[in-house]
Amino acid sequence: MTLILSTIAELRAQNAQWRSRGETLALVPTMGALHQGHLELVRQAKAEATRVIVSIFVNPTQFSAHEDLSKYPRPFEADLGHLRATEVDAVFTPSVVEMYGASFCTTIQVEGPAKVGLEDRFRPDHFAGVATVVAKLLLQSKPDCAVFGEKDYQQLAVIRQMVKDLDIGADIVGVPTLRETDGLAMSSRNIYLSAQERQIAPEIYQTLLSCSQNLQEKSPNHALAKARTHLETAGFKLDYLELRDASTLRQVSDPSQPARLLFAGRLGTTRLIDNIKV
Ligand code: PAF
Repeated sequence: MTLILSTIAELRAQNAQWRSRGETLALVPTMGALHQGHLELVRQAKAEATRVIVSIFVNPTQFSAHEDLSKYPRPFEADLGHLRATEVDAVFTPSVVEMYGASFCTTIQVEGPAKVGLEDRFRPDHFAGVATVVAKLLLQSKPDCAVFGEKDYQQLAVIRQMVKDLDIGADIVGVPTLRETDGLAMSSRNIYLSAQERQIAPEIYQTLLSCSQNLQEKSPNHALAKARTHLETAGFKLDYLELRDASTLRQVSDPSQPARLLFAGRLGTTRLIDNIKV
């Protein structure tokens, strides 16, 4: 049975009951509009702990002024159907008032991987909002681990840093991006692509792969310039295509260190992101 918990008190009481029986807990934070990529996070969470809680909370503090919070999809019944089918133990669905009471006035200030000129260049207050809500969710549910997708790679790096800096004590588990058969990263935004844009969209992953290959043979500047031109010619309006250190997300200074190739750009009005390990 999947329990629906809407208050922090209910969540804490349920967790106390599970803990008293020696169970372990995994949290999967989401904003709903679930797709197969989210369900993959749930599957990973099930492998990590005996009980899995999925939170569904459309967090207003991570939306920028130009992003329309009211238009964010909220297909709650469909989400619940997916979570019941995957036998999630509890869904935590707090209201905005439950999460941010009228007197709320604390925000986590994030630096390091949150300020590297990638997503933060286009969504300046986004990661402070993400870090604050994720810290709240972790402190409310006190899980052994929390599971996030690698698709939002900068978000994952920011959360890892925040959990380490604040000694929150939950393991942060990153799950590789789930892809459509043509390589397009699964995302709730893919439904906004027109039929023609949907045909072009797999170019992102194909270009990341060929750029990664070119990095073995050519200078980073040359390989990146070629990939950027290719994507622009295919019809993308690029926000960035960058090679970065896999943990700090700074410019790569030592080519022997693990690196990540990160993309963000628009196809028509839809903004897509993706990244791969290099
Ligand atoms: O990745 C998301 O869906 C959100 O940013 C998260 C981590 C649930 C915080 O609101």
